[in-house]
Amino acid sequence: MIILEKISEIKATLDSFDRSMGLVPTMGSLHEGHRSLLKLARKQNRTVVASLFVNPKQFGPTEDFERYPRNWDMDKEIFEEEGADVLFAPTDDEIYPSGFSTYIDVGHMAEQLEGLHRPNHFKGVATVVCKLLNICKPDYAYFGQKDAQQSSIIRKFCEDLNLGTQIIIGPTIRDHDGLALSSRNIYLTPSERESALLLNKSLEEAKIMWMSGGRDSTKICGLVEQILSSRANIEIDYVALVNPDTFLHSKVAHQGYLLAIAVRIGSTRLIDNLMLNHDSVVTSQIEI
Ligand code: PAJ
Repeated sequence: MIILEKISEIKATLDSFDRSMGLVPTMGSLHEGHRSLLKLARKQNRTVVASLFVNPKQFGPTEDFERYPRNWDMDKEIFEEEGADVLFAPTDDEIYPSGFSTYIDVGHMAEQLEGLHRPNHFKGVATVVCKLLNICKPDYAYFGQKDAQQSSIIRKFCEDLNLGTQIIIGPTIRDHDGLALSSRNIYLTPSERESALLLNKSLEEAKIMWMSGGRDSTKICGLVEQILSSRANIEIDYVALVNPDTFLHSKVAHQGYLLAIAVRIGSTRLIDNLMLNHDSVVTSQIEI
């Protein structure tokens, strides 16, 4: 695996690699969720490029940028194990040189759910992902359903701006007990982690309600809120049933709509979501 930190080097290097080319952008501290995207990219492309950049512009002033977990040695090993050909790991100055002033405005979709609770978050995500796509010019780029709104926004601006990269969205990978994997799970104490299991549990209960005919979004969200509220250390940011194309709230839980939650447990913010369809309740879990 070739590791590069300069934009000029990566552009020159990628020119000589075979197509198709798949890009997997990450902020490191890799887990099985990241591995699943790397595996998918490896399966579908001649060349796999991964990026590791903890993007300061997508963190709010009170968020965890400084303490975001950084595990360079372990991450490097994982990128290597999953067959990445090239790892792009730029510095902050390389991506945002002094005088940097241009941002992507992703419109109304970025103003819902996560956007309401994290102002400027999606502007930061879209700007860095757009830069990565312009630098690497991949045929395909891989993102996770775990961050459903982020993945949809990326797909939307790629289409709107004719970037020419196809966005592939991989399924949410969960721990054996159902907790969606996240680099932030390591912040949880054992009792907070136990509470965190209610995210997936409440989504599963809601799906059972939907599968037995429940379509009233107030009732479905109410059930989720009731389950989450059973633990005193869970503070709900939102429970929402939305149209997956617009992220606008819906009164009716149509097939394919998304049930999304965000909570705070202690100092950790967690998100999860479930698509309402007739697939089995359990989504992808780590293979033993
Ligand atoms: P990061 O949190 O490192 O996630 C990188 C990719 O892994 C994202 O596409 C995310 O949706 C996916 N991912 C995270 N947890 C997952 C899980 N449990 N199952 C499947 N996929 C999962 O998301 C970011 O970084 C950044 O915002 C980034 C897109 C790199 C831009 O800075």
